[in-house]
Amino acid sequence: MTRYSRVIGTGGYLPEEVRTNEQISQTVDTSDSWIIERTGIKSRRIAGADETASSMAEIAARQAIAAANCDPEEIDLIIVATGTPDRVYPSTGCLLQRRLGIKNCVAFDVQAACSGSIFALSIADQYIKSGAAKKVLVVGSEICSRLVDWTDRGTCILFGDGAGAVLLGASDDAGILSTHIHSDGEYEELLYCPNPQVAIEANKDEAGYIKMRGNEVFKVAVNTLGRIVDETLAANNMQQSDVDWLVPHQANTRIIAATAKKLKMSMNNVILTLENQGNTSSASVLLALNEGIRDGRIQRGQVVLLEAFGAGFTWGSALIKY
Ligand code: UT7
Repeated sequence: MTRYSRVIGTGGYLPEEVRTNEQISQTVDTSDSWIIERTGIKSRRIAGADETASSMAEIAARQAIAAANCDPEEIDLIIVATGTPDRVYPSTGCLLQRRLGIKNCVAFDVQAACSGSIFALSIADQYIKSGAAKKVLVVGSEICSRLVDWTDRGTCILFGDGAGAVLLGASDDAGILSTHIHSDGEYEELLYCPNPQVAIEANKDEAGYIKMRGNEVFKVAVNTLGRIVDETLAANNMQQSDVDWLVPHQANTRIIAATAKKLKMSMNNVILTLENQGNTSSASVLLALNEGIRDGRIQRGQVVLLEAFGAGFTWGSALIKY
């Protein structure tokens, strides 16, 4: 009998502070109308001074664990996707394990930028399918606001903070149908964030802020996400019409609309959160999944396509029967 990874609980957390386009347009040369038209974003959340990726991950994770009615000690593996870890080490996964008070599990981080939660889901699925784990907690948690240069209008309008979580459990009933992950390191210069403290001498003066050639990233993202839709459907012998929901990475409404078009899907079947969250990097897909499940739009038995694209470049998808 096939063994599946089934979604048994989800959670999400957004920090309290709301930063609107209006507020940003007071410090850089931009406008509310430009940001809405070019990205779909109206506001984003900003983490408080005492918050970290692990503190936000804990809140989202506890929600997912409660939703699954699971004893935390049953969790075999914690995978945290983050590009904004509390510390270089220990991993944010280990810090989360401590916060959750779980003694007997393995915990580690995955770094795949905005595709991080899809990469983490893919790894979790391999562990469950192989029988190596029965319950896996996957969390995406990001404090993008601390990696953003708030004087760079090309990036500071886009990003936000938050955490999303999903608890997967082994099941004989269908769950994750397939995952597909890819990397292409050729595109480093289009989107990267320096780490000045450990950089080679020649790069030490480069500030540790996100650097992006947005327009070029945009074009690659649209083409690549189109291809991953084809790949995912073909692997499952499915048609566009078999997919009930698209839960995309929330980078730009225009990129999401292009993927929905590829699926011949109405935007009514897309879970959109970026309007009030911006791009929360590896947290965005899990935050959107949590929202769609909690508000009752995504129903048990429906087919959900998760996808993401990010620095690396990295990209991936997960097709789930919820
Ligand atoms: O999540 C990981 C992956 N990241 C992404 O997927 C992001 C992908 N990229 C994007 O979402 C879009 O490229 C942006 C929203 C970043 C930019 O939109 P665009 O339509 O690609 O604009 P552009 O970079 O081609 O710039 C068009 C114009 C330029 O002015 P000129 O040269 O035409 O005079 C920019 O200087 O818009 C200008 N511009 C702005 N104007 C007002 C760039 N940023 C802004 C801004 N406000 N914030």
